[in-house]
Amino acid sequence: MSDTVRLHYEEQGAGQPVLLLHGYPLDHTIWRAQMAALSDSFRVVAPDLRGHGQSPAPAGEYAMETLAADVAALLDRLGIAQAVWVGHSMGGYVALAALRTMPERVAGVVLCASHPFADPPDKAQARRDNARRALAEGTAAVVGGMLASLFRPDTNLESIPAHRVRTIMLGTPAQGVAGVLLGMAARRDAVDLLRAPAPPKAIIAGRDDQIIRLTDLQALTAQLPHLSLRVLDDAGHLPMIEQPDATTAALRDLLSYWKR
Ligand code: MLT
Repeated sequence: MSDTVRLHYEEQGAGQPVLLLHGYPLDHTIWRAQMAALSDSFRVVAPDLRGHGQSPAPAGEYAMETLAADVAALLDRLGIAQAVWVGHSMGGYVALAALRTMPERVAGVVLCASHPFADPPDKAQARRDNARRALAEGTAAVVGGMLASLFRPDTNLESIPAHRVRTIMLGTPAQGVAGVLLGMAARRDAVDLLRAPAPPKAIIAGRDDQIIRLTDLQALTAQLPHLSLRVLDDAGHLPMIEQPDATTAALRDLLSYWKR
Protein backbone atom coordinates (compact mmCIF):
# COMPACT_ATOMS: atom_id res chain seq x y z
CA MET A 1 0.00 0.00 0.00
CA SER A 2 2.90 2.35 -0.70
CA ASP A 3 0.70 4.67 -2.78
CA THR A 4 -1.83 5.30 -0.04
CA VAL A 5 -2.06 8.72 1.56
CA ARG A 6 -2.21 9.46 5.28
CA LEU A 7 -5.79 10.47 5.97
CA HIS A 8 -6.91 13.10 8.44
CA TYR A 9 -9.54 11.61 10.77
CA GLU A 10 -11.45 11.95 14.01
CA GLU A 11 -12.05 9.10 16.40
CA GLN A 12 -14.33 8.72 19.41
CA GLY A 13 -15.53 5.90 21.68
CA ALA A 14 -14.60 2.27 22.23
CA GLY A 15 -15.99 -1.10 21.18
CA GLN A 16 -16.91 -2.47 17.76
CA PRO A 17 -15.17 -0.25 15.15
CA VAL A 18 -17.45 1.73 12.84
CA LEU A 19 -16.17 3.81 9.93
CA LEU A 20 -18.21 6.81 8.83
CA LEU A 21 -17.26 7.79 5.26
CA HIS A 22 -18.49 11.03 3.75
CA GLY A 23 -19.63 11.63 0.16
CA TYR A 24 -18.47 14.03 -2.55
CA PRO A 25 -17.44 16.88 -2.14
CA LEU A 26 -17.79 16.86 1.63
CA ASP A 27 -15.74 15.91 4.69
CA HIS A 28 -15.97 13.91 7.89
CA THR A 29 -17.74 16.68 9.82
CA ILE A 30 -21.05 15.83 8.14
CA TRP A 31 -21.16 12.90 10.59
CA ARG A 32 -20.65 15.06 13.68
CA ALA A 33 -24.03 14.22 15.30
CA GLN A 34 -23.75 10.48 14.62
CA MET A 35 -20.17 10.35 15.85
CA ALA A 36 -21.08 12.04 19.15
CA ALA A 37 -24.10 9.78 19.70
CA LEU A 38 -22.75 6.40 18.55
CA SER A 39 -19.45 6.74 20.41
CA ASP A 40 -21.27 5.76 23.61
CA SER A 41 -21.29 2.15 22.32
CA PHE A 42 -18.90 1.98 19.34
CA ARG A 43 -15.39 3.00 18.33
CA VAL A 44 -16.29 5.51 15.64
CA VAL A 45 -13.67 6.59 13.10
CA ALA A 46 -14.50 9.29 10.55
CA PRO A 47 -11.77 10.13 8.01
CA ASP A 48 -11.55 12.79 5.34
CA LEU A 49 -11.18 10.78 2.14
CA ARG A 50 -8.30 11.55 -0.23
CA GLY A 51 -8.81 14.92 -1.91
CA HIS A 52 -11.31 16.14 0.70
CA GLY A 53 -11.22 18.09 3.96
CA GLN A 54 -7.77 18.08 5.54
CA SER A 55 -6.46 14.97 3.78
CA PRO A 56 -3.88 15.15 0.98
CA ALA A 57 -5.09 15.76 -2.58
CA PRO A 58 -2.49 14.28 -4.96
CA ALA A 59 -2.81 14.63 -8.74
CA GLY A 60 -4.55 11.98 -10.82
CA GLU A 61 -7.65 9.80 -10.87
CA TYR A 62 -8.83 8.41 -7.53
CA ALA A 63 -10.27 4.94 -8.09
CA MET A 64 -12.79 3.93 -5.44
CA GLU A 65 -10.39 1.05 -4.63
CA THR A 66 -7.64 3.59 -3.97
CA LEU A 67 -9.87 5.54 -1.59
CA ALA A 68 -10.68 2.24 0.16
CA ALA A 69 -6.96 1.37 0.39
CA ASP A 70 -6.30 4.75 2.06
CA VAL A 71 -8.98 3.91 4.63
CA ALA A 72 -7.52 0.42 5.19
CA ALA A 73 -4.10 2.03 5.80
CA LEU A 74 -5.77 4.23 8.43
CA LEU A 75 -7.32 1.12 10.04
CA ASP A 76 -3.80 -0.39 10.12
CA ARG A 77 -2.47 2.72 11.86
CA LEU A 78 -5.24 2.41 14.45
CA GLY A 79 -4.74 -1.35 14.94
CA ILE A 80 -8.24 -2.15 13.68
CA ALA A 81 -8.58 -5.40 11.74
CA GLN A 82 -12.22 -5.09 10.73
CA ALA A 83 -14.92 -2.42 10.85
CA VAL A 84 -18.47 -1.78 9.76
CA TRP A 85 -18.15 0.56 6.77
CA VAL A 86 -20.93 3.17 6.72
CA GLY A 87 -20.68 5.16 3.51
CA HIS A 88 -22.57 8.24 2.48
CA SER A 89 -23.10 8.37 -1.29
CA MET A 90 -19.53 8.22 -2.71
CA GLY A 91 -18.47 6.88 0.69
CA GLY A 92 -20.80 3.97 -0.05
CA TYR A 93 -18.99 3.35 -3.36
CA VAL A 94 -15.78 3.23 -1.29
CA ALA A 95 -17.31 0.75 1.16
CA LEU A 96 -18.34 -1.48 -1.75
CA ALA A 97 -14.84 -1.23 -3.26
CA ALA A 98 -13.48 -2.41 0.12
CA LEU A 99 -15.93 -5.28 0.13
CA ARG A 100 -14.68 -6.32 -3.31
CA THR A 101 -10.96 -5.93 -2.74
CA MET A 102 -10.50 -6.64 1.01
CA PRO A 103 -13.60 -8.39 2.36
CA GLU A 104 -11.67 -9.45 5.46
CA ARG A 105 -11.65 -5.79 6.60
CA VAL A 106 -15.44 -5.43 6.30
CA ALA A 107 -17.76 -6.51 9.14
CA GLY A 108 -20.79 -4.95 7.47
CA VAL A 109 -21.80 -2.23 5.01
CA VAL A 110 -24.38 0.52 5.40
CA LEU A 111 -25.05 2.52 2.25
CA CYS A 112 -26.44 5.88 3.37
CA ALA A 113 -28.06 7.82 0.50
CA SER A 114 -25.97 5.61 -1.76
CA HIS A 115 -26.35 2.75 -4.23
CA PRO A 116 -24.31 0.03 -5.97
CA PHE A 117 -24.94 0.99 -9.62
CA ALA A 118 -22.27 2.15 -12.09
CA ASP A 119 -22.76 5.44 -13.92
CA PRO A 120 -24.69 5.39 -17.21
CA PRO A 121 -22.38 6.56 -20.07
CA ASP A 122 -23.80 10.10 -20.22
CA LYS A 123 -23.28 10.63 -16.50
CA ALA A 124 -19.74 9.24 -16.67
CA GLN A 125 -18.98 11.62 -19.55
CA ALA A 126 -20.42 14.59 -17.64
CA ARG A 127 -18.16 13.70 -14.70
CA ARG A 128 -15.07 13.57 -16.95
CA ASP A 129 -16.02 16.96 -18.43
CA ASN A 130 -16.46 18.38 -14.94
CA ALA A 131 -13.11 16.96 -13.83
CA ARG A 132 -11.42 18.92 -16.62
CA ARG A 133 -13.43 21.99 -15.70
CA ALA A 134 -12.48 21.75 -12.02
CA LEU A 135 -8.79 21.70 -12.93
CA ALA A 136 -9.15 24.56 -15.41
CA GLU A 137 -11.56 26.83 -13.54
CA GLY A 138 -11.51 25.71 -9.90
CA THR A 139 -13.83 23.94 -7.47
CA ALA A 140 -16.59 26.56 -7.42
CA ALA A 141 -17.14 26.23 -11.18
CA VAL A 142 -18.18 22.60 -10.68
CA VAL A 143 -19.72 22.36 -7.23
CA GLY A 144 -21.14 25.90 -6.97
CA GLY A 145 -24.59 24.90 -8.25
CA MET A 146 -24.91 21.59 -6.39
CA LEU A 147 -26.14 22.70 -3.00
CA ALA A 148 -29.90 22.69 -3.65
CA SER A 149 -29.81 19.15 -5.01
CA LEU A 150 -28.17 17.83 -1.84
CA PHE A 151 -31.02 18.90 0.45
CA ARG A 152 -34.67 17.95 0.16
CA PRO A 153 -36.76 20.29 -2.02
CA ASP A 154 -37.79 23.60 -0.44
CA THR A 155 -34.88 23.64 2.01
CA ASN A 156 -33.82 27.13 3.08
CA LEU A 157 -30.35 27.37 1.56
CA GLU A 158 -29.57 30.32 3.86
CA SER A 159 -29.95 28.07 6.92
CA ILE A 160 -26.94 27.29 9.12
CA PRO A 161 -26.67 23.62 8.00
CA ALA A 162 -26.80 24.66 4.33
CA HIS A 163 -24.10 27.30 4.91
CA ARG A 164 -21.96 24.69 6.63
CA VAL A 165 -22.30 22.28 3.72
CA ARG A 166 -21.58 25.04 1.16
CA THR A 167 -18.39 25.99 3.02
CA ILE A 168 -17.18 22.37 3.10
CA MET A 169 -17.93 21.91 -0.61
CA LEU A 170 -16.16 25.08 -1.71
CA GLY A 171 -13.15 24.17 0.46
CA THR A 172 -12.58 20.92 -1.43
CA PRO A 173 -9.38 21.25 -3.52
CA ALA A 174 -9.92 21.25 -7.30
CA GLN A 175 -7.49 18.34 -7.55
CA GLY A 176 -9.70 16.36 -5.15
CA VAL A 177 -12.87 17.21 -7.08
CA ALA A 178 -11.24 16.11 -10.35
CA GLY A 179 -9.71 12.98 -8.82
CA VAL A 180 -12.97 11.59 -7.45
CA LEU A 181 -15.05 12.61 -10.47
CA LEU A 182 -12.72 10.54 -12.67
CA GLY A 183 -12.76 7.69 -10.15
CA MET A 184 -16.54 7.66 -9.84
CA ALA A 185 -16.92 7.74 -13.63
CA ALA A 186 -14.75 4.62 -13.89
CA ARG A 187 -16.30 2.61 -11.06
CA ARG A 188 -17.91 -0.78 -11.69
CA ASP A 189 -21.39 -1.91 -10.89
CA ALA A 190 -21.41 -3.58 -7.46
CA VAL A 191 -24.86 -5.19 -7.32
CA ASP A 192 -23.20 -8.63 -7.36
CA LEU A 193 -21.57 -7.83 -4.00
CA LEU A 194 -24.96 -7.31 -2.40
CA ARG A 195 -26.27 -10.76 -3.30
CA ALA A 196 -24.42 -12.62 -0.53
CA PRO A 197 -26.10 -12.32 2.88
CA ALA A 198 -22.72 -12.03 4.67
CA PRO A 199 -21.35 -9.69 5.79
CA PRO A 200 -24.62 -7.88 6.65
CA LYS A 201 -25.57 -4.92 4.48
CA ALA A 202 -28.31 -2.32 4.57
CA ILE A 203 -29.38 0.90 2.90
CA ILE A 204 -30.57 4.08 4.62
CA ALA A 205 -32.28 6.47 2.20
CA GLY A 206 -33.85 9.91 2.35
CA ARG A 207 -37.38 9.76 0.97
CA ASP A 208 -36.85 13.07 -0.85
CA ASP A 209 -33.33 12.42 -2.19
CA GLN A 210 -33.01 14.38 -5.45
CA ILE A 211 -29.82 12.59 -6.53
CA ILE A 212 -30.63 8.92 -5.85
CA ARG A 213 -34.07 7.70 -6.82
CA LEU A 214 -35.86 5.83 -4.05
CA THR A 215 -37.67 3.70 -6.64
CA ASP A 216 -34.30 2.33 -7.85
CA LEU A 217 -33.41 1.31 -4.29
CA GLN A 218 -36.85 -0.20 -3.74
CA ALA A 219 -36.52 -2.26 -6.95
CA LEU A 220 -33.07 -3.43 -5.83
CA THR A 221 -34.09 -4.45 -2.33
CA ALA A 222 -37.21 -6.18 -3.65
CA GLN A 223 -34.86 -8.61 -5.43
CA LEU A 224 -32.55 -9.02 -2.44
CA PRO A 225 -34.64 -9.90 0.59
CA HIS A 226 -31.72 -9.91 3.06
CA LEU A 227 -30.82 -6.30 2.13
CA SER A 228 -32.86 -4.02 4.37
CA LEU A 229 -33.91 -0.55 3.27
CA ARG A 230 -34.71 2.10 5.87
CA VAL A 231 -36.39 5.17 4.44
CA LEU A 232 -36.20 8.41 6.42
CA ASP A 233 -38.95 11.00 6.00
CA ASP A 234 -38.17 14.68 5.42
CA ALA A 235 -34.65 13.88 4.28
CA GLY A 236 -32.91 14.33 0.94
CA HIS A 237 -29.34 13.35 0.02
CA LEU A 238 -27.96 14.41 3.44
CA PRO A 239 -30.03 12.48 5.98
CA MET A 240 -27.25 12.70 8.60
CA ILE A 241 -27.64 16.50 8.58
CA GLU A 242 -31.32 16.86 7.68
CA GLN A 243 -32.56 14.21 10.13
CA PRO A 244 -29.61 13.58 12.47
CA ASP A 245 -31.55 11.78 15.21
CA ALA A 246 -33.43 9.48 12.84
CA THR A 247 -30.17 8.67 11.02
CA THR A 248 -28.43 7.90 14.30
CA ALA A 249 -31.35 5.73 15.42
CA ALA A 250 -31.34 3.75 12.16
CA LEU A 251 -27.57 3.24 12.39
CA ARG A 252 -27.71 2.29 16.06
CA ASP A 253 -30.44 -0.22 15.36
CA LEU A 254 -28.49 -1.89 12.52
CA LEU A 255 -25.13 -1.85 14.31
CA SER A 256 -26.57 -3.22 17.55
CA TYR A 257 -28.40 -5.98 15.72
CA TRP A 258 -25.28 -6.96 13.72
CA LYS A 259 -23.16 -7.04 16.90
CA ARG A 260 -25.27 -9.84 18.45
C1 MLT B 1 -22.07 12.08 -3.35
O1 MLT B 1 -22.88 12.66 -2.62
O2 MLT B 1 -21.08 11.49 -2.91
C2 MLT B 1 -22.31 12.12 -4.83
O3 MLT B 1 -23.58 12.64 -5.10
C3 MLT B 1 -22.15 10.78 -5.43
C4 MLT B 1 -22.35 10.78 -6.91
O4 MLT B 1 -22.23 11.84 -7.54
O5 MLT B 1 -22.60 9.71 -7.47
